[in-house]
Amino acid sequence: MVQKYVYGTPFHTEAVIRDIKGENGSPNYGTICLEDGFSFTYTLKEKDVVYGLGESNRGINKRGGCYISYCTDNPNHTESVKSLYAAHNFIVIAGETTFGLFVDYPSKLTFDIGFTRMDTLTITCEEADLELYVIDGDSPYDIVRQFRKIIGRSYIPPKFAFGFGQSRWGYQTKEDFRQVAEGYRKNHIPLDMIYMDIDYMQNYKDFTFHEENFRDFSQFVQEMKDQKIRLIPIIDAGVKIEDGYTVYEEGVKNRYFCQREDGSDFVAAVWPGYTHFPDVLNPEARKWFGDQYQVLMDQGIEGFWNDMNEPAIFYTPEGIEKVSQKMKTFLDDPETNSPWDVKDALEALSGSQEDYRAFYHQVEGQRILHDKIHNLFGYHMTRAAGEAFERIAPDRRFLMFSRSSYIGMHRYGGIWTGDNKSWWSHILLNLKMMPALNMCGFLYVGADLGGFGADATRDLVLRWLALGVFTPLMRNHSAIHTRDQECFRFENVEDFRHVVGVRYRLLPYLYSEYMKAALSDDLYFKPLAFVYSKDAHCAYVEDQLMLGNEIMIAPVYTQNAQGRYVYLPEEMKFVKFLPDGSLYEEILPAGHHYVEIGLNEVPIFIRQGKWIPVTDGAEYVEAINSSSWKAVGYAGGEYVLYEDDGISKDYENPKHWKRLNN
Ligand code: GLC
Repeated sequence: MVQKYVYGTPFHTEAVIRDIKGENGSPNYGTICLEDGFSFTYTLKEKDVVYGLGESNRGINKRGGCYISYCTDNPNHTESVKSLYAAHNFIVIAGETTFGLFVDYPSKLTFDIGFTRMDTLTITCEEADLELYVIDGDSPYDIVRQFRKIIGRSYIPPKFAFGFGQSRWGYQTKEDFRQVAEGYRKNHIPLDMIYMDIDYMQNYKDFTFHEENFRDFSQFVQEMKDQKIRLIPIIDAGVKIEDGYTVYEEGVKNRYFCQREDGSDFVAAVWPGYTHFPDVLNPEARKWFGDQYQVLMDQGIEGFWNDMNEPAIFYTPEGIEKVSQKMKTFLDDPETNSPWDVKDALEALSGSQEDYRAFYHQVEGQRILHDKIHNLFGYHMTRAAGEAFERIAPDRRFLMFSRSSYIGMHRYGGIWTGDNKSWWSHILLNLKMMPALNMCGFLYVGADLGGFGADATRDLVLRWLALGVFTPLMRNHSAIHTRDQECFRFENVEDFRHVVGVRYRLLPYLYSEYMKAALSDDLYFKPLAFVYSKDAHCAYVEDQLMLGNEIMIAPVYTQNAQGRYVYLPEEMKFVKFLPDGSLYEEILPAGHHYVEIGLNEVPIFIRQGKWIPVTDGAEYVEAINSSSWKAVGYAGGEYVLYEDDGISKDYENPKHWKRLNN
């Protein structure tokens, strides 16, 4: 049962789309205090586990941490970081008393989950204007499924988006892209997409192509398509201020940009230099911004990634002015003035809340301070694109994922988890985020495989890919000036061919499980405890996941390890995809095991009595021959395969479902 409690005058975020009658008063759990903003306090029992918060730091069990929902562009995801790019305010408290909470509040919200006091959960925010959803159910899983029902169906990408993609910030010319395509095709490492980072644009202007490097863009798109590779360009939130640039001029003329208090267009420095932010909260401006995507669609583009949409601000003219004043004061008298002031001011320049309090949105005739709805910007930028796709080509699916998000955006696109690093700990962080994101509706998810920042090593990329084989978004991406990490750059390329190849052998299975999860508001990734609710040990397993209905995954995330320990809640078949294309299979009884997993092997664990179809694989999605499947797992029983043309939207057509018998 879902109950909604309304406090003050909430902003209508459209996260929840099911009509639920609001109630006044207090829920059955915890204590609400409305004296100084809003707070919800609940005493946790020793064994309570707290799940959720989507894209956030730390564990599958969120206990012991403090998390702040305030979308932030921070590329250093160390253990102490409290805010990442997204705000996903849904948690489930599981224990003697089990219930779910969704706090629909689009500004800064703090979840202190046993951080200040080990036994106390507190959720606080500055203004008591919000909707609090309280969900009762038989189990955490049941609660999640009820929540998913009220927020609407998750985004479904085209099937090619389940292939492998290569990305890197720094590809500048057609030649760079051709080299990548050739590196993959020559080495027979499967590939479906190459991502275009900001350099394809003319001076980082959204919806333009670099005049010299990308002349005849549509021809180039076609040249890649002839090799069965799709180009996926990035779109940034900030629109460059430049006379003669149509997007800028139209936006200014029609007042489609976010404005300062005095009515002037707000200015923020991002990659292109000074920019304006499209007011994507305003339906008219949103439509206009969405329509711009057509420029690229007309060139044959079928997918995009939306970036810098927290929205990221390097600095504002006002911020720079303040810092220069501080510097001047210091330089005038360095003996008496503290150098800390300058250092602090410099550090506070980017993404400052002061800047987020300096501009406004126009929503239904009302002016709303950005800070009050800060967490909705990325959501609405992606909504702009999603609504435009729907208008422009209603029968087709487009690839779309975003960096910043709020619950509700899951209906329009997926997400990638932003600027991680080539650190071993980030493989594990990637794994831990996956089920939490699914709980919040985000099914098409993945991290930058191999790590974005810092230099990757060959073994790290291989181990990370062996996790990426299972994430719906499987993309290798890295930052400019880091070591090249495309699969073909390393020695013994055949290992990469094999690991990425496993994705394609499993693709009909993974796609079917994705579609089952999306079409029935279910989870693709689950914590073990959601499946084995009676096994108390499962609640504490932080490095294994259930995927779909048949398998468990347990990747290696430690350098120089030859394998890992794994916990089996029931008997399972341990299967390794070996580099020669064959399979290693062994039935393991329930309990703890050490399993050996080579750098070039991909392990899965098949649940007792189940089996999955595994095909011959291919070098791109379209070439997979799904009828080449062989059953892997336990003998007997049926598997239901979902198969469609991968691009149109008649999901409900019964002809897509095939019963396979083993
Ligand atoms: C941001 C994105 C990253 C991208 C870079 C340049 O840091 O998160 O993925 O490569 O901007 O566009």
